[in-house]
Amino acid sequence: MSRRILLVTSSILGEQGQSNALAAHLQARAAERDDVTLTHRDLVAEELPHLGLEELSSWQVADEARSAAQRELAARSDALIEELQAHDVVVLGVPLYNLGIPSQMKAWFDRVMRAGRTFRYTESGPQGLVEGKRALILAARGGQYAGTELDSQTPHLKAMLGLIGITDVSLVYAEGLAMGEARREAALAEAKQAIDGLVAAL
Ligand SMILES: Cc1cc2nc3c(=O)[nH]c(=O)nc-3n(C[C@H](O)[C@H](O)[C@H](O)COP(=O)(O)O)c2cc1C
Repeated sequence: MSRRILLVTSSILGEQGQSNALAAHLQARAAERDDVTLTHRDLVAEELPHLGLEELSSWQVADEARSAAQRELAARSDALIEELQAHDVVVLGVPLYNLGIPSQMKAWFDRVMRAGRTFRYTESGPQGLVEGKRALILAARGGQYAGTELDSQTPHLKAMLGLIGITDVSLVYAEGLAMGEARREAALAEAKQAIDGLVAAL
C-alpha cells in the first residue's frame, strides 16, 4: 500500500536547523522507498500571517456569498486542509522556541483547526473530522524537557492534533542540543535511528 507523507517544517535556522536536519533525514529515507511519496511544506520559506478577524470571518460566510477578498482569504485555509486530507502521515519538524512551538507552526495549526471542517462541536465535546491519519513529531530542543512539566510543547501538539482527529502520534526527540558537542551528536544519531525505524515501518 502506498503511503503519502506531508512533511511540515518550521525551523527559522535554515540549514543549521536541527529539526530541518531530522526532516531531511526522513525525506532521504522516504525517497528510498518506491511506495512512499512526500510533499514538503516549509512554513518558514512560505510564511503564513497571524490569523486575524477578517480571515476568521471569511470562514463563516457561505462560499457563494463571499466577497472576492473573503474568497481569497478562505482559500488559504481550504488549501492547507485539502493538503492535509490528501496525505496519510503528517510529519512535523518542531523546534522548541521559548518553551513553545514556532509561531509559524501555530499559524499553520490556526488554519487547519477549523470548526465545521476539521472538527465539529457535539453535545459530548469536539469531534475530529480528519480520519485515518497518523502523525510523527520530530522535536529539536536545546535543553532536556521530555517527560517533565516544562514540556508543554508535546501535550499542546497532541491536543491540537487530537482535536482534529489525529490521535496516533509518534514522537522523536532530539534533546540537549545546546548541552555540549558529545550530547548533541548522540541525541541526533539516536533520533535519526528512530526515524529509520519509523520510516521502515510505514
Ligand atoms: C528563538 C529561540 C528560542 C529558543 N528557546 C529555547 C527554549 O526555550 N528551550 C530550549 O531548550 N531551547 C531553546 N532554543 C534552542 C532550540 O530549541 C534549539 O536550537 C533547537 O535546535 C531548535 O530547533 P531547530 O534547530 O530545528 O531550529 C531556542 C532557540 C531559538 C533560536
